[in-house]
Amino acid sequence: MYFRSSSVEIKSAREIDAMREVGRLAGETLSLIGAHVKPGVTTDELNRIAHEDTLKKGARPAPLNYRGSAGDTPFPKSICTSVNEVVCHGIPGPYALKEGDIVNVDITHLYKGFHGDTSATFYVGRKISKKAQLVTEVARRCLDLAIAEVRPGARLGDIGAAIQEFAEPRGCSVVRDFVGHGIGRKFHDEPKVSHVGERGKGLRLKAGMTFTIEPMINTGGWEVEILDDDWTAVTRDGSLSAQFEHTILVTDSGAEILTVRPSKLENSEIFDSYFDSNP
Ligand code: MF3
Ligand code: CO
Ligand code: CO
Repeated sequence: MYFRSSSVEIKSAREIDAMREVGRLAGETLSLIGAHVKPGVTTDELNRIAHEDTLKKGARPAPLNYRGSAGDTPFPKSICTSVNEVVCHGIPGPYALKEGDIVNVDITHLYKGFHGDTSATFYVGRKISKKAQLVTEVARRCLDLAIAEVRPGARLGDIGAAIQEFAEPRGCSVVRDFVGHGIGRKFHDEPKVSHVGERGKGLRLKAGMTFTIEPMINTGGWEVEILDDDWTAVTRDGSLSAQFEHTILVTDSGAEILTVRPSKLENSEIFDSYFDSNP
């Protein structure tokens, strides 16, 4: 199979500066929302706070009224909030978060013509089941390991392989139906960044490429279903799902995370040595 790397944009220095700017703003909003995650808060409330913060920064929430490639139904809210068995694209609403839930918050800003896309899974309260901790910490580590593969000359397959190699031996599965994506002036661009793959296969990375990596990890099988709202993706077997996402730049020597955060993520980065006691 041929991969036309010519269809993948290489950003100029000016474009990279703009991507850094929007990435930082998206990271700030994600941190702010994380601090608001607690039992009793509705996902609509998180949406409202994110929407206002986005506008305050002079940015636009890219999800609002976004139409997927096939979709006729525009996304009705400014962020995605995906609770427990929701894999991605959960729509904020009247649901009040409860102790022990996990919730992924996915933020995409559009600022000065460029997109920054980032998400994290947060713990609601501190009484968190072993399964919820496992899937969340596996997803977090999968993103870190995938980013560590990124450098000029590496292949897209190396990213998917690193994720599978960590998740599957721990009894988790990697979602196939949604992928990371090139990003820039377009929200979803080439290349498609699969979270499963084989080392040494797929597109060869080049400095100046910008794309997201956003592994979705389930405690059960990888199959998903879309609800009647045309957006909400849930695990087919009802098992838990967690996800982390960064927007990444391929640099001359490796990777730069564009969606940097101002500080440690509240209500998420709370089990620091998880894999020391759960190897
Ligand atoms: N932010 C999601 C992603 O990571 C896409 C959300 S599209 C929406 O690609 F319309 F659901 F918001
Ligand atoms: Co994305
Ligand atoms: Co996203």
